[in-house]
Amino acid sequence: MDKGDTLASPIDRPMEGPVSRRSLLRTLGGGAALTAAGLILSGCGGDDEHTFIPGPGNGNGSGNGGGGISQSVMDVLNFALQLEYLEATFYSFAVTGNDIPANITTGAGAQGAVSGGAKAPLSDSLIAATAQELYQDEVNHVVLLRSVLGAQAVARPAINLAALGVGFGSEAEFLGVARALEDTGVAAYGGALGALLGSSVVDTAARIFGVEAYHAGNIRYQAVARGVNSPVNPIGQPPSVNNLIPTTDNGLTVTLSPQQVINIVKAFFPNGLNGNIK
Ligand SMILES: [Fe+2]
Ligand SMILES: [Fe+2]
Repeated sequence: MDKGDTLASPIDRPMEGPVSRRSLLRTLGGGAALTAAGLILSGCGGDDEHTFIPGPGNGNGSGNGGGGISQSVMDVLNFALQLEYLEATFYSFAVTGNDIPANITTGAGAQGAVSGGAKAPLSDSLIAATAQELYQDEVNHVVLLRSVLGAQAVARPAINLAALGVGFGSEAEFLGVARALEDTGVAAYGGALGALLGSSVVDTAARIFGVEAYHAGNIRYQAVARGVNSPVNPIGQPPSVNNLIPTTDNGLTVTLSPQQVINIVKAFFPNGLNGNIK
């Protein structure tokens, strides 16, 4: 298919207001609540996204972390966690100018510093609202995966957010890096799902995968609407008006193997990754 690059017009949409701040506030509210595995289950009032989450191995929603999940699945989840660290850290700096809470960055392996992040000048209301939601979702993904992994959760490695030389200087830079990260996320989860089949966490991983696809679709649309190019094209399908939604010939998402993903994101991790997939 011809991949044209004619630009569509951006649509206006009212900002959604504080709708989804609730989950973020739940996530970030109170340092003590962030420290224990299963913390996302505390204080929730029957919210499906939280009560649905299986505890490792027992599927009863206890979120107790640790045993019951095979080591190979733990390895995949720790790999995914580090992609979520990257996304959450990028959006946290872009939206707030600050890092994610330190107590959701600890764990096994080498913990590293973050460099190169800054608050991005997101004055457009739709971009700002999108960035805020992405920030919330990614922090929630970090917290969720850490809960499932329990004591096996790896620490956040050193991250250089300026690895691509752009990201925080303008809305276009923000969209460009966000698009690269989200396309990578969709392809990474899609590539990892097969390794999770039969485990108690496959439904949770599939739902994160779905959210990453929402993210990518949103960002790809806005990139096309504003004529923004990315510094990198992880799946070889840069967004255009003829290719807003990247798919294979069968209409499936593009997948990447862990090693392919590592090759894409390694510039962001100057000291490499933690865990057994690196
Ligand atoms: Fe995520
Ligand atoms: Fe995402």
